[in-house]
Amino acid sequence: MEKKAIYPGSFDPITNGHVDIILRGEKLFPQVLIAVLENPKKETLFSADERIEIIRDIFKDHPNIEVKAFHGLLVDFAQKNEAPIVIRGLRAVSDFEFEFQMALMNKKLNPAIETFFMMPSAKYAFLSSSLVKEVFGLGGCVSDLVPSIVEKRLHEKFRRD
Ligand code: PNS
Repeated sequence: MEKKAIYPGSFDPITNGHVDIILRGEKLFPQVLIAVLENPKKETLFSADERIEIIRDIFKDHPNIEVKAFHGLLVDFAQKNEAPIVIRGLRAVSDFEFEFQMALMNKKLNPAIETFFMMPSAKYAFLSSSLVKEVFGLGGCVSDLVPSIVEKRLHEKFRRD
Protein backbone atom coordinates (compact mmCIF):
# COMPACT_ATOMS: atom_id res chain seq x y z
CA MET A 1 0.00 0.00 0.00
CA GLU A 2 1.30 3.41 -0.90
CA LYS A 3 -0.26 5.65 1.70
CA LYS A 4 1.03 6.70 5.11
CA ALA A 5 -0.82 5.13 8.02
CA ILE A 6 -1.52 6.65 11.40
CA TYR A 7 -1.77 4.51 14.53
CA PRO A 8 -3.45 6.58 17.26
CA GLY A 9 -3.86 5.73 20.91
CA SER A 10 -3.28 6.61 24.51
CA PHE A 11 -0.31 4.22 24.88
CA ASP A 12 -0.32 4.59 28.67
CA PRO A 13 1.91 2.61 28.46
CA ILE A 14 2.64 1.00 25.09
CA THR A 15 2.35 -2.81 25.33
CA ASN A 16 3.71 -5.71 23.28
CA GLY A 17 0.25 -5.89 21.68
CA HIS A 18 0.70 -2.34 20.30
CA VAL A 19 4.27 -3.14 19.21
CA ASP A 20 3.03 -6.23 17.36
CA ILE A 21 0.46 -4.18 15.43
CA ILE A 22 3.02 -1.45 14.62
CA LEU A 23 5.63 -3.94 13.35
CA ARG A 24 3.06 -5.67 11.19
CA GLY A 25 1.67 -2.31 10.01
CA GLU A 26 5.18 -1.24 9.08
CA LYS A 27 5.30 -4.10 6.56
CA LEU A 28 2.07 -2.96 4.91
CA PHE A 29 2.53 0.81 4.74
CA PRO A 30 5.55 2.87 3.65
CA GLN A 31 5.35 5.00 6.80
CA VAL A 32 3.56 4.65 10.12
CA LEU A 33 2.88 7.69 12.27
CA ILE A 34 2.21 6.78 15.91
CA ALA A 35 -0.11 9.48 17.27
CA VAL A 36 -0.08 9.74 21.05
CA LEU A 37 -3.21 11.29 22.52
CA GLU A 38 -2.46 14.31 24.67
CA ASN A 39 -5.56 14.92 26.77
CA PRO A 40 -5.09 17.12 29.84
CA LYS A 41 -8.57 16.07 31.06
CA LYS A 42 -7.65 12.37 31.10
CA GLU A 43 -5.47 11.26 33.98
CA THR A 44 -2.60 9.12 32.74
CA LEU A 45 0.22 7.31 34.52
CA PHE A 46 2.80 8.60 32.04
CA SER A 47 2.76 12.15 30.66
CA ALA A 48 2.48 12.59 26.90
CA ASP A 49 6.18 13.50 26.78
CA GLU A 50 7.10 10.33 28.67
CA ARG A 51 4.92 8.14 26.45
CA ILE A 52 6.45 9.68 23.32
CA GLU A 53 10.00 9.31 24.62
CA ILE A 54 9.39 5.62 25.43
CA ILE A 55 7.88 4.88 22.00
CA ARG A 56 10.65 6.77 20.18
CA ASP A 57 13.21 4.71 22.06
CA ILE A 58 11.51 1.43 21.10
CA PHE A 59 11.41 2.34 17.40
CA LYS A 60 14.68 4.29 17.20
CA ASP A 61 16.01 1.93 14.51
CA HIS A 62 12.90 2.24 12.33
CA PRO A 63 13.25 5.29 10.04
CA ASN A 64 9.75 4.72 8.62
CA ILE A 65 8.09 5.07 12.03
CA GLU A 66 7.54 8.50 13.55
CA VAL A 67 5.92 9.47 16.82
CA LYS A 68 3.97 12.66 17.52
CA ALA A 69 1.58 13.95 20.14
CA PHE A 70 -1.89 14.97 19.07
CA HIS A 71 -4.95 16.58 20.55
CA GLY A 72 -8.29 17.52 19.05
CA LEU A 73 -9.90 15.49 16.30
CA LEU A 74 -7.94 12.53 15.01
CA VAL A 75 -9.18 13.03 11.45
CA ASP A 76 -7.85 16.62 11.43
CA PHE A 77 -4.46 15.46 12.68
CA ALA A 78 -4.42 12.62 10.14
CA GLN A 79 -5.24 14.99 7.29
CA LYS A 80 -2.63 17.55 8.40
CA ASN A 81 -0.02 14.78 8.44
CA GLU A 82 -1.13 13.32 5.09
CA ALA A 83 -1.89 9.96 6.71
CA PRO A 84 -5.31 8.89 5.40
CA ILE A 85 -5.31 5.34 6.84
CA VAL A 86 -6.08 4.90 10.54
CA ILE A 87 -4.81 1.60 11.96
CA ARG A 88 -6.67 0.17 14.93
CA GLY A 89 -6.17 -3.16 16.66
CA LEU A 90 -9.29 -5.21 17.29
CA ARG A 91 -8.76 -7.63 20.16
CA ALA A 92 -12.12 -9.08 20.98
CA VAL A 93 -15.84 -8.70 20.44
CA SER A 94 -15.83 -6.26 23.36
CA ASP A 95 -13.68 -3.83 21.33
CA PHE A 96 -15.97 -4.00 18.35
CA GLU A 97 -18.76 -1.64 19.35
CA PHE A 98 -16.50 1.28 20.31
CA GLU A 99 -14.24 0.74 17.31
CA PHE A 100 -17.21 0.50 14.95
CA GLN A 101 -18.65 3.77 16.31
CA MET A 102 -15.30 5.50 16.12
CA ALA A 103 -14.58 4.34 12.56
CA LEU A 104 -17.99 5.48 11.35
CA MET A 105 -17.78 8.81 13.17
CA ASN A 106 -14.33 9.44 11.71
CA LYS A 107 -15.68 8.55 8.26
CA LYS A 108 -18.53 11.00 8.72
CA LEU A 109 -16.15 13.74 9.88
CA ASN A 110 -13.79 13.14 6.98
CA PRO A 111 -14.79 10.64 4.26
CA ALA A 112 -11.21 10.60 2.94
CA ILE A 113 -9.98 8.81 6.07
CA GLU A 114 -10.21 4.99 6.09
CA THR A 115 -9.93 2.79 9.17
CA PHE A 116 -7.86 -0.36 8.80
CA PHE A 117 -8.42 -3.00 11.48
CA MET A 118 -5.80 -5.53 12.45
CA MET A 119 -6.19 -8.51 14.77
CA PRO A 120 -3.46 -8.80 17.38
CA SER A 121 -1.39 -11.96 17.58
CA ALA A 122 -3.37 -14.47 19.66
CA LYS A 123 -0.81 -14.28 22.48
CA TYR A 124 -1.66 -10.60 23.00
CA ALA A 125 -5.43 -10.81 22.51
CA PHE A 126 -6.06 -10.35 26.25
CA LEU A 127 -3.57 -7.54 26.74
CA SER A 128 -4.37 -3.91 27.53
CA SER A 129 -2.48 -0.95 29.03
CA SER A 130 -4.97 -0.82 31.92
CA LEU A 131 -4.38 -4.47 32.80
CA VAL A 132 -0.62 -3.98 32.65
CA LYS A 133 -0.87 -1.08 35.12
CA GLU A 134 -3.18 -3.03 37.40
CA VAL A 135 -1.07 -6.20 37.40
CA PHE A 136 2.18 -4.28 37.91
CA GLY A 137 0.64 -2.09 40.61
CA LEU A 138 -0.41 -5.22 42.50
CA GLY A 139 3.06 -6.73 42.31
CA GLY A 140 2.62 -9.01 39.27
CA CYS A 141 5.22 -9.61 36.58
CA VAL A 142 4.69 -7.87 33.23
CA SER A 143 8.00 -8.65 31.55
CA ASP A 144 6.35 -10.73 28.80
CA LEU A 145 3.72 -8.09 28.19
CA VAL A 146 5.62 -4.85 27.62
CA PRO A 147 8.95 -3.79 26.06
CA SER A 148 11.81 -3.75 28.59
CA ILE A 149 11.98 0.07 28.64
CA VAL A 150 8.32 0.16 29.73
CA GLU A 151 8.98 -2.29 32.53
CA LYS A 152 11.92 -0.14 33.64
CA ARG A 153 9.78 3.02 33.59
CA LEU A 154 7.02 1.24 35.54
CA HIS A 155 9.57 0.33 38.20
CA GLU A 156 10.66 3.98 38.36
CA LYS A 157 7.05 5.23 38.59
CA PHE A 158 6.09 2.79 41.28
CA ARG A 159 9.56 3.06 42.91
CA ARG A 160 9.95 -0.70 42.92
CA ASP A 161 13.19 -2.63 42.22
O1 PNS B 1 -5.74 3.87 22.98
P1 PNS B 1 -7.14 4.39 22.97
O2 PNS B 1 -7.42 5.14 24.25
O3 PNS B 1 -8.16 3.32 22.67
O4 PNS B 1 -7.23 5.45 21.75
C1 PNS B 1 -8.41 6.17 21.52
C2 PNS B 1 -8.18 7.30 20.50
C3 PNS B 1 -7.02 8.17 20.93
C4 PNS B 1 -7.87 6.71 19.15
C5 PNS B 1 -9.49 8.14 20.42
O5 PNS B 1 -9.89 8.51 21.71
C6 PNS B 1 -9.35 9.39 19.55
O6 PNS B 1 -9.22 9.31 18.36
N1 PNS B 1 -9.37 10.57 20.20
C7 PNS B 1 -9.23 11.84 19.54
C8 PNS B 1 -10.53 12.65 19.56
C9 PNS B 1 -11.40 12.29 18.38
O7 PNS B 1 -11.04 12.40 17.23
N2 PNS B 1 -12.63 11.85 18.70
C10 PNS B 1 -13.59 11.43 17.73
C11 PNS B 1 -13.34 9.99 17.30
S1 PNS B 1 -14.82 9.15 17.23
